Amino acid sequence: MASHMRLPAGACLCCWLLLFKVVSSEHADDFDSNALLSVGMPKQMDLQADSGHYAYLLRCAQAPAGDEACYDTSPPEEFTVRFWLWDGRSFRVRSYSHWAPVFAQRFWQLSNLNWWRGVAIYRNDYVNESFRFVSQWGLVGSPAVNDAWTKWKTSNQTSPALKSNTRGKISFSMGAVECTAGPDDPCQALRPNCTAEDYCALGFSTEIYVNFADNSRLDEHGFAPIGEVDDEGMLVLDDLGRTLGNLYGEVQDLCPPTPPGKYCVYRDGERAGVNETKFHQEGNRYIWKDFPEMFRLRIASARVERWYAA
Ligand SMILES: *[C@@H]1O[C@H](CO)[C@@H](O)[C@H](O)[C@H]1NC(C)=O
Ligand SMILES: *[C@@H]1O[C@H](CO)[C@@H](O)[C@H](O)[C@H]1NC(C)=O
Ligand SMILES: *[C@@H]1O[C@H](CO)[C@@H](O)[C@H](O)[C@H]1NC(C)=O
Ligand SMILES: *[C@@H]1O[C@H](CO)[C@@H](O)[C@H](O)[C@H]1NC(C)=O
Repeated sequence: MASHMRLPAGACLCCWLLLFKVVSSEHADDFDSNALLSVGMPKQMDLQADSGHYAYLLRCAQAPAGDEACYDTSPPEEFTVRFWLWDGRSFRVRSYSHWAPVFAQRFWQLSNLNWWRGVAIYRNDYVNESFRFVSQWGLVGSPAVNDAWTKWKTSNQTSPALKSNTRGKISFSMGAVECTAGPDDPCQALRPNCTAEDYCALGFSTEIYVNFADNSRLDEHGFAPIGEVDDEGMLVLDDLGRTLGNLYGEVQDLCPPTPPGKYCVYRDGERAGVNETKFHQEGNRYIWKDFPEMFRLRIASARVERWYAA
């Protein structure tokens, strides 16, 4: 799931949200999150940037390794993150740090930062019961924030896939290097975490994806799952994938100009999916303008709900 190479193949934003930011992870288990939610699920869709939140994320892009205020800390062995969509539905990810420590650490950090707030689930490869692949998200609404994290926080660390990319599993989307014959093969340095012969995943930052099907072919490239969505959560994600998959489909960058293309949707002869370049340049404004249903169904917020001591 490279986001650049795009594998596999890639106002008042409401007081409770502010509250969210203030709730640090060490207090998270003092709250009943559902009670918190019922206080006031945001109803208004407001494009006005939440400048405080983005400023915080920008600061954290350049924070030194280990910065506690930016949650660059060791995750517990297990923790749960709940994602809420703007329509009020939610799903949970249970993360297991030993599955893939370097990736789990980033997921821990991003979730504690509430990185996921306002994030559009922009790639939805889900056509029908037999033809489905993944949904991917992790770019925030502000291009400056995404750029800063790409620049400062892209990591080349790897982990072997101890678990497989089967239905429900969550992994990081990555860039990739192509393997070549001979002594300069960039894949050699990534053995044995990557065992594939064509390409190795390398370079992760903030984008993750959920598997809708058995995508275990991704394992050998180094897309190491960090956790899983439970069955109840997968019903929500299935529905989302089906809705957005059939409306917009695969990102334009991975679709041929004319049909057919795998998971691609065409409308009036044009690719209906997100243009990743534009999304990177314009952020959520582009999603709001051109993909109204995707914008409506974006993630409202996420938080670490509870965890077990390491
Ligand atoms: C699912 O979609 C694919 C691609 O459009 C199509 O080839 C296949 O027949 C569909 N399967 C079902 C069960 O509808
Ligand atoms: C990660 O690897 C890529 C490809 O080899 C390289 O271009 C990039 O500079 C590396 N980044 C870091 C942070 O080491
Ligand atoms: C392979 O993964 C392990 C576990 O994350 C890591 O410690 C090691 O450095 C990785 N090896 C390479 C060559 O990147
Ligand atoms: C995506 O948008 C960029 C910038 O507007 C444009 O140059 C590019 O051709 C578009 N890509 C596709 C696949 O349409």
